[in-house]
Amino acid sequence: MKKTAILLFGVILVSFVAAYAQDNEPLTFQDFIEGKEAFEENCIECHSLEWPIKKITDRAGWVETLTKMANTGAVLSKKNKRQVLEYLVAKSMFQQNCSLCHGLERPLEKNKEFQAWIETVRRMSAKKPDLLTEEEIQAVSGFLTAKGEEKGLYW
Ligand code: HEC
Ligand code: HEC
Repeated sequence: MKKTAILLFGVILVSFVAAYAQDNEPLTFQDFIEGKEAFEENCIECHSLEWPIKKITDRAGWVETLTKMANTGAVLSKKNKRQVLEYLVAKSMFQQNCSLCHGLERPLEKNKEFQAWIETVRRMSAKKPDLLTEEEIQAVSGFLTAKGEEKGLYW
């Protein structure tokens, strides 16, 4: 236990950006569920979740924001850092791409399992060539699986 704590502390000290650069294991929808949980637990310490929820940016933009937050005092485990980053990147992709033809409420009002979301998102993606890559389809589906019943915050 003690050893783990020391190890974890060492890991946290490693630069924020370096943590992202590593070759990581493939993401599963569980990572988006845990990412959402870690986001809601840790990012509300100093301000409301509205800023990050309203913010739409790409991966580089989120790495920059999360680095700034870490420098301000936000502390996340290495695993949670990656999960929160991926969650916020997927959230932005969702906000950007899924409001092009209809409101975000259309997907937000639906609750589906991960596989069912993949099918829906793939079907939507096919309506507009080059909308999302296969990896992005997985990420947006992970975000939609993680969102649960709530919907109000995103529009
Ligand atoms: C230790 C306090 C603290 C924690 C914890 C914290 N923040 Fe912040 N955050 C701030 C402060 C202070 C500002 C306003 C100053 C600024 O913009 O740097 C801010 C501003 C922001 C902004 C708006 C400015 C921008 O760069 O877009 C976003 C988005 C944001 N935080 C996201 C997050 C996320 C995501 C987390 C969780 C990983 C988080 N914050 C955790 C202190 C914190
Ligand atoms: C190019 C236009 C377009 C884009 C972009 C688009 N949609 Fe749709 N969407 C539609 C149309 C048209 C319908 C209604 C007909 C249908 O269901 O195919 C629809 C219906 C839906 C429905 C209700 C039907 C169902 O299967 O549950 C959901 C949920 C949905 N979209 C989610 C999304 C998501 C998530 C995204 C982003 C990845 C997205 N849409 C992007 C055009 C689009």
